[in-house]
Amino acid sequence: AGVFTYDPGFTSTAACDSTITYIDGEAGVLLHRGYPIDQLAKQSHYLEVCYLLLYGELPSAAQLEEFETLVTRHTMIHEQMHNFFRGFRRDAHPMATMVGVVGAMSAFYHDSTDINDEHQREVASIRLIAKMPTIAAMAYKYSIGQPFVYPRNDLDYASNFLRMCFSVPAEEYEVNPILARAMDRIFTLHADHEQNASTSTVRLASSSGANPFACIAAGIACLWGPAHGGANQACLEMLREIGTPDRIPEFIERAKDKNDPFRLMGFGHRVYKNFDPRAKVMKESADEVLELLGIENNPTLQVAKELERVALEDPYFAEKKLYPNVDFYSGIILDAMGFPTSMFTPIFALARTVGWVSQWKEQLADPQLKIGRPRQLYLGAAARNYVDIETR
Ligand code: CMC
Repeated sequence: AGVFTYDPGFTSTAACDSTITYIDGEAGVLLHRGYPIDQLAKQSHYLEVCYLLLYGELPSAAQLEEFETLVTRHTMIHEQMHNFFRGFRRDAHPMATMVGVVGAMSAFYHDSTDINDEHQREVASIRLIAKMPTIAAMAYKYSIGQPFVYPRNDLDYASNFLRMCFSVPAEEYEVNPILARAMDRIFTLHADHEQNASTSTVRLASSSGANPFACIAAGIACLWGPAHGGANQACLEMLREIGTPDRIPEFIERAKDKNDPFRLMGFGHRVYKNFDPRAKVMKESADEVLELLGIENNPTLQVAKELERVALEDPYFAEKKLYPNVDFYSGIILDAMGFPTSMFTPIFALARTVGWVSQWKEQLADPQLKIGRPRQLYLGAAARNYVDIETR
């Protein structure tokens, strides 16, 4: 007692043990419950991965069916929450709306806020996973002045989300299966990533005994920042700003200049020092989706590929082991689907909800759980006597 290690940014501090996700940053490996991310992204699908993250094993056909039914039965949100949405300004960022609405779920679903009741914990988990696409889609619809679209429980998770975002009352909306598959893969690639900033935020919030909706709202707030989930929006905006391949060297030079705060968005990672295995699948997916949509000459994709090539050949990025991360190619797919950049981070948030929830459940099951309470290195004034205002 009394001896602390000083570790700003927690670069070398493990705050918990976990059996959910394994990352080997040097080798570029990401496993969920032991299964490699590329296999899960290509061979499995999002709700199956949700089950795996939550319960530890791949489901049997019957277990999967039961789980899917449970999730699709909870997609609607309380009708009164519509009023809550309407209280926001139309031009609010959908992440701002989501932080508020998810936090407010504790006011609407207080029958699942008792963290000591296992059944309530389970109900809260399912509610969060099931309702997040509805909430994200409503935040989007509200921001563009269109009516909310109710979920349709006969559709799969990704198709339902696409329909809630893009369907308008005046027209029939058919979900394009190529887009639904690509959407599902984006969800899978974002499902969990061990103790990243937002997940650590959820765990810290939960360590005080806070209710699950409050904890997940805290996670969403943390995810929003451009160094974390906000990077997908920032990355596409950067690619658009670069505009044409001839301007790439200028931006590379800016990223290397220590007097310029500019960083290459979608590049670098705290843990991956080889490559981000999610980025590899995402790049393949971007190629595939744009080709299937017949827009493979998309100028943003061309800029992204050239930027990646130039950066990877540059000694600065090689020395610092900076590689494209999950956010580098996801925006190109989301843009091709018709999402505005402001929806990129909400989509990350909805996909990561299962990771937050799984880690929250794991933490609460830990009999050694303590409140998270880091210490500090105090560098302020030494003790001194108060001085009256007249004599300062
Ligand atoms: N462009 C230019 N230089 C960079 C970049 C970049 N994207 N990333 C790191 N560096 C440099 C940084 O300036 C530092 O240089 P020096 O040692 O000379 O001071 C060195 O590389 C190490 O960077 P760091 O900031 O100490 O590393 P970190 O582990 O604290 O930060 C990071 C990791 C992801 C926040 C950072 O790489 C970054 O800001 N990247 C851009 C934002 C981004 O794409 N974030 C998404 C991360 S993946 C998905 C997610 O988490 O949501």
